[in-house]
Amino acid sequence: MLKTMHSVAVGSAAAVLLVTAFTLPGASAAGNDTARHGGMGHSAAPQSLGDLGRKAGVRIGTAVDTTALAEDAPYRARAAGEFSSVTAENVMKWGAVEPQRGTYDWAAADRLVGFAKKNGQLVRGHTLVWHNQLPAWLDEDDVTLAELRKILHRHITDQVTHFKGRIWQWDVVNEAFDDDGTLRDSIWLRKLGPGYIADAFRWAHEADPKARLFINDYNIEGVNAKSTALYELVGTLRKQHVPVHGVGIQGHLAVQYGAPHDIADNMLRFDRLGLGTAITEADVRIPLPADSTEYEAQAEGYGVLLRGCLLTPGCDDLTVWGFTDTYSWVPDTFPGEGAANIFDENYAPKPACSTLRQTLTLAAGRR
Ligand code: G3I
Repeated sequence: MLKTMHSVAVGSAAAVLLVTAFTLPGASAAGNDTARHGGMGHSAAPQSLGDLGRKAGVRIGTAVDTTALAEDAPYRARAAGEFSSVTAENVMKWGAVEPQRGTYDWAAADRLVGFAKKNGQLVRGHTLVWHNQLPAWLDEDDVTLAELRKILHRHITDQVTHFKGRIWQWDVVNEAFDDDGTLRDSIWLRKLGPGYIADAFRWAHEADPKARLFINDYNIEGVNAKSTALYELVGTLRKQHVPVHGVGIQGHLAVQYGAPHDIADNMLRFDRLGLGTAITEADVRIPLPADSTEYEAQAEGYGVLLRGCLLTPGCDDLTVWGFTDTYSWVPDTFPGEGAANIFDENYAPKPACSTLRQTLTLAAGRR
């Protein structure tokens, strides 16, 4: 599915070469990072991304794989120590929380929220209305429009109420658009019509008036048909006083398509509408095996996303979609590609990690 969606390239293969800062032939990704940290005898541990982010006025978060959190101690230590917000990668999705109709299973999601509280992290809730990872019992052919509307209302109300006061930002509606800027042909659009989006925000707001409510999508980093359609939609929703508070820009990039250098232009137009923004799912995949040039291009991709956020006053979070290549979703969806995260399988930081650290350090105290 995502293969075709992400094939709309933001740039070209040539752009990869243009953004390559320098390469150390044969050097490992981690080796580059050590060199940049001044690893020549300096042993002080770098500050966490979360701490650097605090000084720069932005949360740095990660999506969390809760199975890894339970089973992998080094993963747990990084998730706790490196980040200042967390997102449930899968366990707050509808199929996970209501596997049988009317029977909720909040256990895994509750554990993550507890983990975040213990570590002083905020939680992004992901996600309430999506076309994917729906419960198996939800069969479009079996429900009338009126029933489906009731089912969606109940789902949003129950889930937001369950987590009331514990979720900072909700991805209320996820991936509602196609790349050409038309609304996605999903169960929601087919059965309920485009009004499902406003309804979802109203219902979520009723259940937790303090949570910040986001619409979230991919391939909307730069100015393009999809981001413009989203811009027009949220402008209309704001005029109608629908409680939409922010736009989540996922940030799933690929080095072969270049980096979205117009991201600040795009983010600032949402800012001018009075909306918050966030980079919600950053990763930059690479055709395997990855070489040092590609790791530098990857670092540029992460850097562009972070700079877009820092240049946009209402952007208060950059979340990476997982932090180690060990648990990345990428190889399953894009066979032959991977190495998309800021730490490798051994938790060694890549150049991308240095770029985030350096950019945050330079931005300290500026917003
Ligand atoms: O939970 C089952 C498990 O019971 C079973 O044994 C196993 C066998 O394959 O599958 C498990 O489910 C997998 C699930 O992740 C949890 O690990 C699904 O097969 C797999 O498809 C699912 O992938 C997730 C994907 O969303 C689904 O579309 C990825 O982990 C997750 O990173 C990804 O996240 C999405 C965001 O929510 C929205 N934006 C795009 C992003 C990347 O695709």
